Amino acid sequence: MRGFLTSLRVRRRVHPSVFSDELVLDTVFANVAESFSMNMELAFLIPVSVVLGALVLLVVVTVGKKWGQSMQTEEQSKERSEKKANGTVGRTAASKKQTKQQRLRKERPQQHAFSHQLLAASLKAHSGNISSLDFSSNGKYLASCSEDRTIRIWSTKDFMEKEHRCIRANVELDHAVFVRFSPDSRAFITWLANGETIRIFKMSKKEDGSITYIASPEEFSQRHKASVINIGIADTGKFIMTASNDTTILIWNLKGEVMASINTNQMTNAYATISPCGRFVASCGFTPDVKVWEVCFGKGGDFKEVTRAFDLKGHSAGVHYFAFSNDSRRMASISKDNTWKLWDTDVEYKKQQDPYLLMTGNYTVVEPCHIALSPDARVVAISCGNDMALYNTEDGKLEEEFHNVHSEDISDLRFDINSRFVVTTGDRVIRVFHNTPGYRAAIRDMEKMLKKASNSCMRQRLQQQIKEAKSALNKVCNSRQ
Ligand SMILES: *[C@@H]1O[C@H](CO)[C@@H](O)[C@H](O)[C@H]1NC(C)=O
Ligand SMILES: *[C@@H]1O[C@H](CO)[C@@H](O)[C@H](O)[C@H]1NC(C)=O
Ligand SMILES: *[C@@H]1O[C@H](CO)[C@@H](O)[C@H](O)[C@H]1NC(C)=O
Ligand SMILES: *[C@@H]1O[C@H](CO)[C@@H](O)[C@H](O)[C@H]1NC(C)=O
Ligand SMILES: *[C@@H]1O[C@H](CO)[C@@H](O)[C@H](O)[C@H]1NC(C)=O
Repeated sequence: MRGFLTSLRVRRRVHPSVFSDELVLDTVFANVAESFSMNMELAFLIPVSVVLGALVLLVVVTVGKKWGQSMQTEEQSKERSEKKANGTVGRTAASKKQTKQQRLRKERPQQHAFSHQLLAASLKAHSGNISSLDFSSNGKYLASCSEDRTIRIWSTKDFMEKEHRCIRANVELDHAVFVRFSPDSRAFITWLANGETIRIFKMSKKEDGSITYIASPEEFSQRHKASVINIGIADTGKFIMTASNDTTILIWNLKGEVMASINTNQMTNAYATISPCGRFVASCGFTPDVKVWEVCFGKGGDFKEVTRAFDLKGHSAGVHYFAFSNDSRRMASISKDNTWKLWDTDVEYKKQQDPYLLMTGNYTVVEPCHIALSPDARVVAISCGNDMALYNTEDGKLEEEFHNVHSEDISDLRFDINSRFVVTTGDRVIRVFHNTPGYRAAIRDMEKMLKKASNSCMRQRLQQQIKEAKSALNKVCNSRQ
C-alpha cells in the first residue's frame, strides 16, 4: 500500500493520459485555458469559469463522444474477457444481463419524475440509492457511490451530452457510503458500510487500453466506535480524515496509521470535513459553533500536530452542516436556528483574529440538510429534505428554488470546480443543475470592474467577456433537456 500511495503524490503533477483520447482532451482544454488565463491577467482575475462555460459547451460536443467510445469499449471488453475466461459463464452473464435489463425496464415507470429548465442532466446508472458524490480536483470526473455495491466515475465533459456513460467499480462483499478522489484524481478512497473501514481503489489501464479500478487488498484498521459521518483525503496528499457521530475525528497517514485523534467536544458530530486547501479540518454538531483545526506538518513533510485554528461563533443552536470555498477564505454554515451564515475566514488566527460574519440568511431548516458554497464563493446551495435552493452571497437573495428533486432526501450536494454546475443526489439519480446565479453574479462583478476600468484595452476585454458570459447564460436559460 505504501508504494501505491506514494505514487499518488509523485504522479500528481504529471497527469499522464489514462483515459484513451484524454491526451486530446487535455490539449484542447489546455489551449482554451491558456488563452483565457492571458485574458485574465489583463482583466484582473475575472472569473474564467463563466467565459469558459460557453467554450466548453462547444468543445464538449466535439470531444465528448470520444469518452463515450472509451466507456463502451470498457464495458464490451469486460464482457469479452469474461466470455473468453469461461464460455458457460459468458452465456450466464448475458442472460443475467437480460433479466437485469428487463427488471430495469419494469422499474423505470416508477422512477421519480422531475424536470426544470435549469436541469442540465440526470445521470442514471445506479440501481440503488446514492449516498455520496465527489468531483476530482482536476475537474474531469464525478464519482458516486451507492447501495448497489458499485461506484461510478462520470466524465464531467459529458454532462451536456445526451448520454452519460460511466466507468463502474465494484465494491466486493460490501458497499461504499462515502467516496473521495485522491489529489491526483487517479485513485479514490471509500468508506465501507459493513467493513466500517477505508478501502482504496486505484485506476489502472487494461491491456486493451481501457480503464478499470482495482481495490487495494489492504484495508485500514477499524478504529471508530460510532457511525462514520464523513471521510476525506487532503489535497496535499498528506493525510486522510475520518469522523464519527460521537465526538471523534481521526487523522491517518496514507499508510493507514492513525497520527492524531481529535475530540471535538461538541456532544455529537453532525458533519466534519477537510478544507479544499488541505490545511484545515473542521467540525460541527450539537453546539452552536463550527470548530476549525490546522493539521501541521514539519518542513520535511512529517506530521507534527493538530492545533486549534479558529471557530465560527454566531449561531444560536446546533450547526447541521458547513462548507468551504475552494481557497478556504470563505465558509458557509447552516443551523437549527433557521439561518445560514457566510463567513470571511481569511484571518490571522495565529494572532487571535476571529472570522468575520458577512451575511445571515433565513431558511426554515428541515433535517437532513446540507449547505454547499460555490468554489468562487458567489453562491450558496442549501438542501433540506428533497428540496434545494440557491442564494447569492452578495445580498443573500434567494435566486432559484427546486422542489421534490429526488424521491428520497438529498444525501449530497456539490458544486463542480468551475462553479458552473450544482449536483444533487439521494435516490438512484444524480441531478446536474446550471448554476445560473453564479453566472449572473460573475457578470455583475465584471460590470462593476468595467465601470472602474480606465485602460481601453482592458475595457474592451471586459466588454467582450461580459458579452460572452451573457450569451452563455442565455444559452443555458433557453435550452431545455
Ligand atoms: C466455468 O464455470 C463453471 C460453472 O459456473 C465453473 O464450475 C467452472 O469452474 C468455471 N471455469 C473456469 C475456468 O472459470
Ligand atoms: C432506498 O431506496 C428505496 C427505494 O428504492 C427506498 O424504499 C428506501 O427507503 C431507500 N433507503 C434509504 C436508506 O433511503
Ligand atoms: C450515530 O449514527 C447512528 C446510525 O445512524 C445512530 O444509530 C446513532 O444514534 C448516532 N449517534 C449519535 C450520538 O447521534
Ligand atoms: C479555486 O478555483 C478557481 C477557479 O474556479 C481557480 O482559479 C483557483 O486556482 C482555485 N483555487 C484553489 C486554491 O484551488
Ligand atoms: C431574517 O429574519 C429576521 C427576523 O424575521 C429579519 O429581521 C431579517 O431581516 C431576515 N433576513 C433576511 C436576509 O431576510
